[in-house]
Amino acid sequence: MTVKILSITLLLLSVCVCCHSSEDTRVRGPGRIRPCCVGVDKDNMTAEVVGETYREQAARGHCVKAIIFNTKKGQLCADPKAQWVKDLTAKMRKV
Ligand SMILES: *[C@@H]1O[C@H](CO)[C@@H](O)[C@H](O)[C@H]1NC(C)=O
Repeated sequence: MTVKILSITLLLLSVCVCCHSSEDTRVRGPGRIRPCCVGVDKDNMTAEVVGETYREQAARGHCVKAIIFNTKKGQLCADPKAQWVKDLTAKMRKV
């Protein structure tokens, strides 16, 4: 009897662990990785940019080399080679 209860408990326990680990994979999977820029804006977006800092992203996998600015709507991926980007980054601080 005790053995039966024990095995049921173990079974339930392993089911729980199973659920948790699959949830972990989902959370730690690609969705959890910080989204990267897969394309850049070449248009002059100077007016959209807020704040005094920018980030630089290196090309990796499907991510392209980009300068990441903050805008009121979120992050903006900009072309490091665009003149407006060079003008802006010269005035800003890299983080
Ligand atoms: C981009 O636009 C800003 C104003 O919105 C302007 O001051 C700047 O000269 C422009 N830069 C380029 C490279 O066109």
